[in-house]
Amino acid sequence: MLHDEVVPILDFGSQYAQLIARRVREQGVFSTLVRPDIAAGELAAMKPKGIILSGGPASVYEAGAPRCDPDIFQLNLPILGICYGMQIGAQILGGRVTPAAAREFGRARLHVLGDDPLVRGLPADTIVWMSHGDQVNDLPKDFVPLASTPTCPFAAARHKRLPFYGVQFHPEVTHTPRGELIFRNFLHDICHCAGTWTMGNFIEESVKAIRDQVADARVICGLSGGVDSTVVAALLYRAIGQQLTCIFVDNGLLRKHERERVQSTFADHFKTNLVVSDATEQFLGALAGVSDPQKKRKIIGAQFIDAFKREALAIKDARFLAQGTLYPDVIESGHGHAGASANIKLHHNVGGLPAELGFELIEPLRDLFKDEVRRLGQVLGLPDDTVWRHPFPGPGLAVRIVGEITPQRLTILRNADEIVLDELMAAGLYRKTAQVFAVLLPIATVGVMGDARTYDSVVAIRAVESQDFMTADWARIPFDVLATMSNRIINEVRGVNRVVYDISSKPPSTIEWE
Ligand code: XMP
Repeated sequence: MLHDEVVPILDFGSQYAQLIARRVREQGVFSTLVRPDIAAGELAAMKPKGIILSGGPASVYEAGAPRCDPDIFQLNLPILGICYGMQIGAQILGGRVTPAAAREFGRARLHVLGDDPLVRGLPADTIVWMSHGDQVNDLPKDFVPLASTPTCPFAAARHKRLPFYGVQFHPEVTHTPRGELIFRNFLHDICHCAGTWTMGNFIEESVKAIRDQVADARVICGLSGGVDSTVVAALLYRAIGQQLTCIFVDNGLLRKHERERVQSTFADHFKTNLVVSDATEQFLGALAGVSDPQKKRKIIGAQFIDAFKREALAIKDARFLAQGTLYPDVIESGHGHAGASANIKLHHNVGGLPAELGFELIEPLRDLFKDEVRRLGQVLGLPDDTVWRHPFPGPGLAVRIVGEITPQRLTILRNADEIVLDELMAAGLYRKTAQVFAVLLPIATVGVMGDARTYDSVVAIRAVESQDFMTADWARIPFDVLATMSNRIINEVRGVNRVVYDISSKPPSTIEWE
């Protein structure tokens, strides 16, 4: 294991498991999800400072409910069971778990019963988030209750002799306002973690691991201009310097000045080779006459592999391919647990490269969340405008031109999009929004310009706020900012005589229009 202090989480299928990992890292302790049935020996080999058992949707007395190796309770390591994790622990250690008389779901008032390291510092009464059908009702005599709610007498408890603690509520969610203190108490006072895990350590450890893996071979890294691939490149550059070669494919579907921006950021931060492939004609040729969004995506995916392969295979001594796979990608693919095979980001900017290329994969960000990647980028000295960039889809402007893609329509969209982003930044709203862009619609409408009637295109402005891009709300951009965007687009972009604002949320709408 790469990290000094690690607290693994046995994942029993909780929707909050990732959130637990994140809360642990916020305390300066590295955390990762592992299979719930991991053998005690394997777990001990990770030299953890403690263990967390996550919640889960099952019921402990159901046939086939996930179980953990009972020997983990004999490792003499502090264990914190959360919800299902507490129930499985109590059951293994001799407790009785029964369906709760009232299913508890939502906020509950927690009353602290005594002084114990786990609940130390909590007010006598505090709010916690409950979400369970079962609860530990009958604590074996070896357990001491630490806190209760009106319907749950053992909302928090500990074993008298073993360092096993359990909470039936969810300290990891923001609806448990003092949840952070429970993690701090568990990690620092009970597991005795020093909390030294920082991005600085992460860089040091990753650099060492990359050097060990790569030795003196060459690594290629596809750059997309986005945060993830730039951070991967920066980390690799820190580790292996000029053994890194980056490839940037201009698919002709990028925003205005994007290629120049990528090249100049690269030149400012990396003194190594960047291969820029201008594949505009190849992509636009293949897309000519195509309007169907999924067909566009397929064509772009195939052309990308083709263009990337051409450049990559021309780099003679390359053995490794670096990718910006993040932790949520690993988890979402169901491969989050230890021992699972590597997952490749499908249809992402530089992903989906086939195994036939014959490279070994390096995925130095696969333990990190997006906001951690941004912090890492900052620590690596990347500029703010790279670190805080809004995401941009792999198929680029192709999915923002509804209908057919032509060079003329690309120019219209690029010019409109540039104005939208300019005005967004001028209003100080870039960091407050998750994704903002222009969309070109496949209809013409009537307008008057001077004395003449026009019959020109419509541009839609799409602006959303979102944490995870799975759900999003339309951003309440002030009217005067929208007015400036609209005036400028209609006056400055030839071919547009109408601007509309998209006020739909996701779901049921999506962020992109195609
Ligand atoms: P939707 O439109 O599905 O988008 O709400 C969610 C997020 O994914 C991005 N997106 C894509 N990214 N290839 C990508 O690399 C794609 O085909 C693609 N489609 C959507 C979108 O920009 C948003 O951030």
